[in-house]
Amino acid sequence: MRITDKTNPTEFRAIEERYDDMTYRRCGQSGILLPAISLGLWHNYGYLDNLEKGRNILRYAFDSGITHFDLANNYGPPYGSAEENFGILLKRDFAKYRDELIISSKAGFDMWSGPYGNYGSRKYLVSSCDQSLKRMGLDYVDIFYHHRPDPDTPLEETMAALDHIVRQGKALYAGISNYPAEMAERAVNILKDLGTPCLIHQAKYSMFERWVEEDLLDVLEKKGIGCIAFSPLAQGMLTNKYIDGIPENSRAAKSMTYLEKENVEANLSKIKQLNEIALNRGQKLSQMALSWLLKDDRITSVLIGASSTNQLKENIEALDNLVFEEDEIRKIDEVLG
Ligand SMILES: NC(=O)c1ccc[n+]([C@@H]2O[C@H](COP(=O)([O-])OP(=O)(O)OC[C@H]3O[C@@H](n4cnc5c(N)ncnc54)[C@H](OP(=O)(O)O)[C@@H]3O)[C@@H](O)[C@H]2O)c1
Repeated sequence: MRITDKTNPTEFRAIEERYDDMTYRRCGQSGILLPAISLGLWHNYGYLDNLEKGRNILRYAFDSGITHFDLANNYGPPYGSAEENFGILLKRDFAKYRDELIISSKAGFDMWSGPYGNYGSRKYLVSSCDQSLKRMGLDYVDIFYHHRPDPDTPLEETMAALDHIVRQGKALYAGISNYPAEMAERAVNILKDLGTPCLIHQAKYSMFERWVEEDLLDVLEKKGIGCIAFSPLAQGMLTNKYIDGIPENSRAAKSMTYLEKENVEANLSKIKQLNEIALNRGQKLSQMALSWLLKDDRITSVLIGASSTNQLKENIEALDNLVFEEDEIRKIDEVLG
């Protein structure tokens, strides 16, 4: 079902001071700077969501210096609807700011029926990129990612597809997501040989998901590739929202999400202890969770989601304090085990 578009037709003029307070970090050894906080549209932008609310969040983000919006073919629900809704808002509010934006999309998870709508074939990636451009009403995306490794398609084919998309002018840069370290290094080498360097790796990284620390971050640093950390708040668990139970309308309370109540409950003791550490350093837990990632300058940006402008505001304020005492790091490590 498609919700009627009731968005406010008044013209959006971004505030002049929008770049004054945001921190920008170089993405690996590329020419691109990304805001330390980027905004993802995985949730809150599908047909079932309130487009006016989503519009306000995007406007607030851009006014705060957030220049990077991240999408994928299958964001919604239903699949494709986040890109369509983003296309509507882009046309209304951001068309004149297109050159100030880094817009990304991806293909790699199941998108359409049959053998050509999933994983990593050239057939899937090239068609999916075309579809994404059409849905968003764009001539090109800034970054096009392969969304996850494909165990069966030769890596050479998938990387050649990214190279092809960039050479066609349909994406300015290529990226990979969810690739383990060894496979990421091979992908980066293939892309380099093709003449389309890999810009960025999008990896799940938060206090609760630390796999990238093992060897991926070292590989990316060695190769000069940026890293954008997705779900840095563990889908909302690393905030104070679940401390007194599971609020109505939260991601854990909703169906069709990937955050289980059981997962929240299993982590509650850690969440409460982390919350105490955050309060003692004068931050909200959400802010400490983001600062904790950004204290490592190999992290180009943290890619958050937000279901309100208040959440977004709170999260941006994390940038006011990125410094940790050794004792704070030790206490956090003890809680995380
Ligand atoms: N490459 C991949 O495979 C992949 C996978 C997943 C995500 N991503 C990208 O990463 C983006 C972010 O993922 P995510 O949405 O899981 O990130 P997240 O920042 O970990 O979680 C966002 C959710 O946390 C809650 N939240 C955020 N700030 C809050 C605050 N200050 N106080 C209380 N609650 C707060 C909100 O949930 P409520 O709705 O409950 O309010 C919000 O929707 C996605 O949009 C997508 O672009 C990529």
